[in-house]
Amino acid sequence: MTTGHFLPPEFLDELRQRITLSSLIGRTVKLTRAGREFRACCPFHNEKTPSFYVNDEKGFYHCFGCGAHGDAIRFVTETRGLSFMDAVRELAGQAGMDIPEANPAAVRQAKRTATLHDIMAEAAKWFSEQLHGIEGAEVRRYLDNRGISPAIAQNFGLGFAPNGRGRLKNALSHHAVEKLIEVGLLISVEGRDPYDRFRGRLMIPIKDQRGRIIAFGGRRLESIEGGNSLPDNSPKYLNSPETPLFDKGRTLYNIDKASQAARRQNRIIVVEGYLDVIGLAQAGIHEAVAPLGTALTEHQIERLWRIEDKPILCFDGDSAGQKAAVRAAERALVQAHPGKTLSFVTLPNGKDPDDLVKEQGKSAFEEVLSRPIALDRLLYRFQASQIDPQSPEGRAALSKRLDELAASCRDEFIARGYRSNFKNLFYENFGWKSKKQQDSQTTIAATVTLSDLPTPTISDLECQYSRQILIGLSLYPEAIKQRLERLAELAVTDPKLKKWRETLITAVISEPDLDRDTIKAILKADANVDIDTWDIKKDLRFPFTRPDIAPDLAIESLVALIDLVVEERELATEEQQLKQVFTEERLIADYAKFEAAQALHRKRRADFQERRYMLGMEFELRTRVDEG
Ligand code: UTP
Ligand code: MN
Repeated sequence: MTTGHFLPPEFLDELRQRITLSSLIGRTVKLTRAGREFRACCPFHNEKTPSFYVNDEKGFYHCFGCGAHGDAIRFVTETRGLSFMDAVRELAGQAGMDIPEANPAAVRQAKRTATLHDIMAEAAKWFSEQLHGIEGAEVRRYLDNRGISPAIAQNFGLGFAPNGRGRLKNALSHHAVEKLIEVGLLISVEGRDPYDRFRGRLMIPIKDQRGRIIAFGGRRLESIEGGNSLPDNSPKYLNSPETPLFDKGRTLYNIDKASQAARRQNRIIVVEGYLDVIGLAQAGIHEAVAPLGTALTEHQIERLWRIEDKPILCFDGDSAGQKAAVRAAERALVQAHPGKTLSFVTLPNGKDPDDLVKEQGKSAFEEVLSRPIALDRLLYRFQASQIDPQSPEGRAALSKRLDELAASCRDEFIARGYRSNFKNLFYENFGWKSKKQQDSQTTIAATVTLSDLPTPTISDLECQYSRQILIGLSLYPEAIKQRLERLAELAVTDPKLKKWRETLITAVISEPDLDRDTIKAILKADANVDIDTWDIKKDLRFPFTRPDIAPDLAIESLVALIDLVVEERELATEEQQLKQVFTEERLIADYAKFEAAQALHRKRRADFQERRYMLGMEFELRTRVDEG
């Protein structure tokens, strides 16, 4: 009965020839002529303007609105709910044709010669037909909502597995059940009839390098109600099991098309999901592949290296994405061989490539791709994000871990290269030993330089300068007016200095043109500060603390120092905050921001030294300033 399904292709062709599709469809739908075709409002979805076309010459119909597509037989099965055989019987009756006897020899022959690949191709064709049929309407809408055009769906051979245990099994009943089980389309459980593995899912064919279908990924359709809904706890994706055709760890989704596109674009991109690959293709980027839900394997990396020297791996910035990136990086480091490496890009705020191109277009994704991170830097940043960069123990652990990583390279030359790159990154990061810095330090006459300090804590540096600034302002109260807000912002923690600052500010606000002697008297009375008892000349050698300096220059240098200190504090604060952020989740992306802030801060501090030097502000940094 079910094997009667196997009709000779010539018979079906003849049947299609004899039926005039427009007159068949015209019985239920009002058709209008449009050139060589007929047009109508689509019977498969609701519409006001006609986008449904019937082509008698080719013998098929197509709806540009919902993607419904098929021939005479399909039209009858879809609109009348008849089985394939019943539809054929009815149409054959109308066309005056006899149905050939089921030919057992032909059926046996098909069972013998059909290869496993043929079976997969047939299954894909059937899934695709279901997508374009009545039952597929909601799935087509789902694709439409996700921005996947019918053309792209077609291109990727997307299909739909209706929710039923024997739907595909019936459709492919001319094949031996054992073979359907062997390719993973049916599930066989002891004591039960084998049944369809994929039910109520969007079907994504997975092909090998040569474009032959070897497996399927089936996506749950949570938005689809009624007969097709699956329990919420069913996994998002159900994939074909390992079969004689399908070795998951050696397969990359879309490798067949992507390797061709890669040749044209000179790049290959690895993303995480099937739908990222499809979304990128929709946006015009065809050189993307995806592993099949697992970490990138050695084989997959080797395969990518056969296509490009430096595949680009895309990961979510979240911790799962990062974990996957780091795993791939460590894997690739072990097996790296001359000329072959990986680069990495991280997507912003938990978006995947599919979201990004959909929301912001292709250019946004290209922009992400234009800033790749090299393998060594990615590993470095990850390891650096795992430690406390300000503690010696943390830095030692980092150093050790980097050495271990470099040693994991199988290739001795590359191992050496990594060891030295990691060292450079380490010094670049912590500054205090890099060659460049040492050179620039020799040009500055200071005996101790700021960048020699392990890390400036805000209070150390700022308190140090706060004292100088307060002394300067007490000597040149004119400068207070110029930098009143900055003075108020100055982080002063020492209560005595606080009082000093308050007194100064209050005095200047109430009487803007106070001279030096009046200020001294006020400070002595209100803040218990006696400037004259401070051995300024010995301890401090700022221009504004020298008795012989011109007032203009003194004030200029004082204002400059205030600006520098405030700016320095802002940078240090930002750096601290960024450090806080990355220590919360230990994300590479956050660490990278911290690293950038740290580099900027370091550069500013170097500028700062230079400007201080230029202003003639050389001084020896003291840990204590005698408060007298
Ligand atoms: P994603 O959850 O990112 O899927 O999983 P996606 O392809 O982007 O799909 P949408 O956008 O959510 O619809 C990434 C990949 O991990 C595998 C699949 O290969 C998927 O494409 N995966 C995920 C599974 O194999 N099983 C699962 O349950 C989930
Ligand atoms: Mn996605």
